[in-house]
Amino acid sequence: MATLDKTGPGPEDAPHDGVRRRDFINLAAVSFAGAGAVAVLYPLINQMNPSADVLALASIDVDVSGIQPGQAVKTEWRKQPVFIRHLTPQEIQAANAVDVGSLRDPQTLAERTSEGRPQWLITMGVCTHLGCVPLGAAEGENKGEYGGYFCPCHGSHYDTAGRIRKGPAPINLEVPEYEFTSDTAVRIG
Ligand code: FES
Repeated sequence: MATLDKTGPGPEDAPHDGVRRRDFINLAAVSFAGAGAVAVLYPLINQMNPSADVLALASIDVDVSGIQPGQAVKTEWRKQPVFIRHLTPQEIQAANAVDVGSLRDPQTLAERTSEGRPQWLITMGVCTHLGCVPLGAAEGENKGEYGGYFCPCHGSHYDTAGRIRKGPAPINLEVPEYEFTSDTAVRIG
């Protein structure tokens, strides 16, 4: 890149070499650096475009009509487990009876479920401690001391709203984005 010479012309500023040659060398170096930056950026940007199979997994539709109160199912979204749980009235009551202020990650059941559907608890099936899959979604599995989910890796207990109540997990089970497209169908993602 050309630079202003504030000291005025000197012997190195002769038009046939000196500054002009130096300017040319600087310009060549800048152009080279620019080409290098483009070459590095392109693959990075290209990698950020989701591939077709990732786009196909962007959302899933699940028929929840067969999940009875007290049951839960495990499905998969974006290659990670998701728990869909149909809470019983007693489980809803237990979740609502908790003093939210006493929780490690204070959230009400209403904040973790969709409006008017507190009986459907939809969470990621991934422990927020180190990522194990908690137990409690399948029949007969240990639901932990609070009746929700239990992570056997290091002993995290989640309650019937999927909130962390005991053990090392720092926050509640994550609630993915979802919406009910009908009374019996939910779209996750
Ligand atoms: Fe669940 Fe550690 S990964 S308690």
